[in-house]
Amino acid sequence: MIAKEKLIIFDTTLRDGEQSPGASMTKDEKLRIAKVLEKMRVDVIEAGFAVSSQGDFEAVQLIADTVRDSRICSLSRAIRADIERAGAALKGASAGRIHTFIATSPIHMKYKLQMQPEDVLAQAIGAVKIARDLVDDVEFSLEDASRSDFDFMCRITEAAIKAGAKTINFPDTVGYSAPGEYGSVINRLLNCVPNADQAVFSVHCHNDLGLAVANSLSAVQNGARQVECTINGLGERAGNASLEELVMALRTRQDLYSVKTDIDPSHIVPISRLVSSITGFPVQPNKAIVGANAFAHESGIHQDGILKMRETYEIMKAEDVGWTNNKLSLGKLSGRAAFSARLDDLGISFDSKDDFNKAFQQFKDLADKKREIFDEDLQALVSDVQMGPTDDLTLIDLEVLSKSGQLPVAKIIIRHQDHEHRVESTGSGAVDAIFNAIESLMESSAELQLYSVNAVTQGTDSQGEVTVRLQKDGRIINGQGADTDILVASAKAYLNAVTLLRNPGGMHPQLGGV
Ligand code: KIV
Ligand code: ZN
Repeated sequence: MIAKEKLIIFDTTLRDGEQSPGASMTKDEKLRIAKVLEKMRVDVIEAGFAVSSQGDFEAVQLIADTVRDSRICSLSRAIRADIERAGAALKGASAGRIHTFIATSPIHMKYKLQMQPEDVLAQAIGAVKIARDLVDDVEFSLEDASRSDFDFMCRITEAAIKAGAKTINFPDTVGYSAPGEYGSVINRLLNCVPNADQAVFSVHCHNDLGLAVANSLSAVQNGARQVECTINGLGERAGNASLEELVMALRTRQDLYSVKTDIDPSHIVPISRLVSSITGFPVQPNKAIVGANAFAHESGIHQDGILKMRETYEIMKAEDVGWTNNKLSLGKLSGRAAFSARLDDLGISFDSKDDFNKAFQQFKDLADKKREIFDEDLQALVSDVQMGPTDDLTLIDLEVLSKSGQLPVAKIIIRHQDHEHRVESTGSGAVDAIFNAIESLMESSAELQLYSVNAVTQGTDSQGEVTVRLQKDGRIINGQGADTDILVASAKAYLNAVTLLRNPGGMHPQLGGV
């Protein structure tokens, strides 16, 4: 048997994923995701674009200082100031990488950069050299490679490798390529660039035509040894190749692919939920691997087949990717030890004893209201505790009067820095009344961009997980709240969003398109 070559998994959820409009994350949220990426053994985590904002710089820095087992990367344009900012953010990394890029397609060079190809080539070489003075590991990307001239790509790739780049990335920036074509370009590049053996060839595919995963797999079959991807396929416009689909395609069809990854797939569903709850982007039910229906069988014929022999209709095991089978997890009488053990099984840990105690108390409160507590409930509850600074703003009491034909009224008691405030407001609906009441106290004047409710489990006693997206002065933040009462969850989510808005360190502007 021929030994499988290693495929490097480069996750860019925290950089390209964050470029999805409305998906911006605070540095603490990014760190929570990065810790799970590390646990699932992602090789490279692109933590952000350090120069784009102070918030992103701090996020890259925090992740570089904390994560030890994955390589941490920051994006930078091929500009000295960008590269130096990336280098500074990565100082504390146990293994750091600067990822610098410049566009190489005729359309980008002529209209966007307004530069001649020779100048682009010179700038690329200069950028790689500057980056190599700061870190050992430099990746160079030819932005819009799939629409670039082949001979020019060969020249710039050879020069970038000579200048010290260890990874060369050929992005399908606009999701234009088709699988056969893209694979064959990677194959030709590997054969035509004289020093190709001195670098890893990488791909980064966007999903504008729904082909990002297919294009990436085709490139892998043709010699690419790094794929760039995101959790849930999040990313600019239609998104990037999804990590879970790539990893599971490679595992499930080992007969087709000559590569292996180090990814532990049991973290796939938990991290998908985490990313969805932090960004407020729900996962569509029929999404491969992580959608609620990905392992559900509706037809009687299929159910019959599954009962007789699972493989008749299932090519993967749900448990392998972290589906917990709606497992009844804990009950009202469970104590701290059982709670802590179950969190361990789910791969959840807390940074402080305080957070653990808060979560345990919330679990007890939930168990009073809800007879059966499932793993999904615990995950939502933990998200609620970990979601950020809410300490100075606490929901004490909520009363909503709603009668057909009359405007609903919300009466709320909020504790803010040891003072209790009573506020009251009407609204066009109950949720509107709650938000108006909170606004009358907090006066954030932010624009509400999104309000979404997701049932955590099935049944009418399920917890509702609410996301509130607010925009103010070009900044976008997502607040979350979970409760069996969706009005309470809504109030918590709005308070969380307002708190994040009031913490400048905890937010950052949406990135401009790269
Ligand atoms: O899509 C793209 O080209 C990118 C690069 C910056 C790698 O995201
Ligand atoms: Zn991209």
